[in-house]
Amino acid sequence: MRFDTIVKGGTVVTAADTFRADIGILDGRIAMLAGDLDDADEMIDATGLLVMPGGIDSHVHLEQPGSPGIVMADTFETGARSAAVGGNTTVLPFCLQQKGQTLREAVKDYTERAQDHCYVDVAFHLIVTDPTPQVLGQELPALIAEGFTSIKIFMTYDDMKLADREILEVLDVARQHKALVMVHAEGYDSIRFLSERLERQGKTAPVYHGASRPVAVEREATHRAISLAEIVETPVMIVHVSNRHAMEEIRRAQMRGLPIYGETCPQYLVLTEADMDREGMEGAKYVCSPPPRDFDSQAACWEGLQQGVFEVFSSDHCPYRYEDAAGKMAPKGQTNFRYVPNGVPGIATRMPILFSEGVVKGRIDLNRFVALTSTNHAKRYGLYPHKGTIAVGADADIVLWDPAREVTIHHKILQDGCDYTPYEGLEITGWPVLTMLRGSVVVRENELKGAFSGNILSRR
Ligand code: URP
Ligand code: ZN
Ligand code: ZN
Repeated sequence: MRFDTIVKGGTVVTAADTFRADIGILDGRIAMLAGDLDDADEMIDATGLLVMPGGIDSHVHLEQPGSPGIVMADTFETGARSAAVGGNTTVLPFCLQQKGQTLREAVKDYTERAQDHCYVDVAFHLIVTDPTPQVLGQELPALIAEGFTSIKIFMTYDDMKLADREILEVLDVARQHKALVMVHAEGYDSIRFLSERLERQGKTAPVYHGASRPVAVEREATHRAISLAEIVETPVMIVHVSNRHAMEEIRRAQMRGLPIYGETCPQYLVLTEADMDREGMEGAKYVCSPPPRDFDSQAACWEGLQQGVFEVFSSDHCPYRYEDAAGKMAPKGQTNFRYVPNGVPGIATRMPILFSEGVVKGRIDLNRFVALTSTNHAKRYGLYPHKGTIAVGADADIVLWDPAREVTIHHKILQDGCDYTPYEGLEITGWPVLTMLRGSVVVRENELKGAFSGNILSRR
């Protein structure tokens, strides 16, 4: 049999197995796995490399509008480019329904902007901020049927938060139509109360972002979200979990047999609140929600990854430029942490950080790394088995990984649209040396080779 491409001599790693095999690729799909293949138009030498399913980052924000005057640093083009540099082949950004907008309008707008502008495949989640009767009764059921099978809701942020009654309504639509609700679990009233008190005390520097939303704020909201899901009898994914208390809430629910899933992110493994306590506005670079916590919180997030409480490891890439009045240096943000745009970039650094801090340091094995960065995302969000594994018939979305490559993270190698990385100077062992989307090389040795060949995927 003749193939378009053979990936030869590598060690294949899936969520289940690690084995030596060559991979024959035909028409963008994996056509054969065998000990020795040699007839192809193109041979890619993977000797000494790990051959893994391309990363799937199921929590990224791209081209998402924020408060007036604030602009997200990444377009679909730059965000997807950086994703590919970091070994990813599929990303799941959000279509945000702005208040007063229909969901259908939001979907049309994001789809048009992403179409023909992506180096990797894209599948959208929805964000519901305005659950009108039309959204609940007509738009959501229709969009879920079209393949938008996951919905994020927020328990905080002035312009996004849903009241408990609204959360129950969204959960019920999700239950009826078999969608998954992703929950941003932080309590709005507590955050407002604490923020206003901090403001009155003159505590307005970026570091007070942490004090305005302490662990108890996240734990309470996590518990409430789980309870609401239990009442409605539908699953939820608690996203970007930052600490032990919230992790334990999820674990307890899982031990009671509830379908409650968890996600954590790199910022909760390698950053702490002290990062927000830097000179001047420098701390704003690390302001995200929930905020980075302390070393015990980091340890708890590792436990959650090791023990399966967290099934996905995502970046929550939410980039705002630092030296920019439309980003972290927003004039109002310079007067008070409450107005610093929330979010950190991390689409390219997600997999290297988990590999280096997790696999190389012996905290997780290679197969769990693949599960946490690719396979579990595909399974949970309806992309498996076309995505998220190395198997005959799957899309040839592959990352070749040099497990010994030593890289010091500098922003310029990440090729995103931001102007900094919170991980500047972090020393990494293990790096993606080639990213392939449906059989075509997108990035080789950090150099972009691909075109806008990313598809917008429907999930049914
Ligand atoms: O600070 C964060 N995480 N911003 C991104 C939006 C979100 O809540 O995921
Ligand atoms: Zn969130
Ligand atoms: Zn997010």
